[in-house]
Amino acid sequence: MPFWPWSQELEVGIRQIDEQHKWLVDLTNQLHDLIEDGADRETISQFLDALMDYTMYHFIVEEELFQRLGYPETEGHCRAHGRFTEQIMSLIERHDAGEAVGVEALELLKGWLEHHILKVDKAYVDHFRAHGVG
Ligand SMILES: [Fe+2]
Ligand SMILES: [Fe+2]
Repeated sequence: MPFWPWSQELEVGIRQIDEQHKWLVDLTNQLHDLIEDGADRETISQFLDALMDYTMYHFIVEEELFQRLGYPETEGHCRAHGRFTEQIMSLIERHDAGEAVGVEALELLKGWLEHHILKVDKAYVDHFRAHGVG
């Protein structure tokens, strides 16, 4: 049983988005396993960089759809993405400064992603569908 099993509740029903969310949940599980296995600092560092890259890629995909489909909540949603990106950046900086941030990163990932997918991402689904996406 993974640390955070994927569940149907997390599905927004738009295939491309669900695939990306699944990968983010998978990354969360990978971090959990790295911590359990006592991964070294370099491995955690590489993980955090990969997490940052994939998160930004996913946010850009969503934000381009918001622009294309004229989503009215674009501003607030992009702000939430921006705040999360800053939190990951700050964890990377603290890691580079010698702190152990793995557990904090794990808690942030699970807590933020779960809330964001269930509340903030799900809020765009009706608008997307009304404009032919999904
Ligand atoms: Fe998302
Ligand atoms: Fe989002």
